[in-house]
Amino acid sequence: MKFFLDTADLAEIEEAASWGAIAGVTTNPTLYAKIGGKLDEFHAHIKRICDIVDGPVSAESVAMTRDEIVRDGLELAEIAPNVVVKVPTMVEGLAATKELAKHGVPVNMTLCFSVPQALLAARAGARYISPFIGRFDDISDDGLAQVENIVDAINNYDFTAHTVKGEQIEIIAASVRSANHVTQCALMGADIATVPFGVLKKMVQHPLTDAGLESFMKDWEKVQ
Ligand code: G3P
Repeated sequence: MKFFLDTADLAEIEEAASWGAIAGVTTNPTLYAKIGGKLDEFHAHIKRICDIVDGPVSAESVAMTRDEIVRDGLELAEIAPNVVVKVPTMVEGLAATKELAKHGVPVNMTLCFSVPQALLAARAGARYISPFIGRFDDISDDGLAQVENIVDAINNYDFTAHTVKGEQIEIIAASVRSANHVTQCALMGADIATVPFGVLKKMVQHPLTDAGLESFMKDWEKVQ
């Protein structure tokens, strides 16, 4: 399983990259707003992320029509070769994904909440599909079960004829809220988990590691 960092915060990205922990980054309009991002600095900000991370960096289109999403996507793809255009799962998004794939632009189809949506995204030519866990749990449903169903359904078929460069679709488990979400997604075979920095830090920690370290340090003092 690969890990992407779900943030627009450059300090978090630099820190996680220094651990060798992340293979990519995902952003969304909320995450950009959270760091005080400004509209006219958005492209420059995505470029900075692309300079730090040697892997796919998802930048989301906020357009609502096919043509606008395509125009947005083509501009975003100009920022750096590792930009992936994030497109919402909706009719206009599917049509734009088909067009962007024709232009060789990889798409991360986001806000995906069902198997039929994921299958349509795959047919449209999405390179990545992002089912959301936490937001599904928020409405008293089972986000992890949904990811498992999507992984199973997508892996039943070969979509390589539809993707840019014939690459395999990868499922990005998104809206990850805990280290346990990561464990469960890895066991069900999700390709990638995109995690907030707080979750990444929790993934490193274990109370038995802390206790073991403390006792080793105490015993080492006896040796001196
Ligand atoms: O990047 C999309 C997704 O990971 C957002 O997560 O926690 O806002 O539902 P969340």
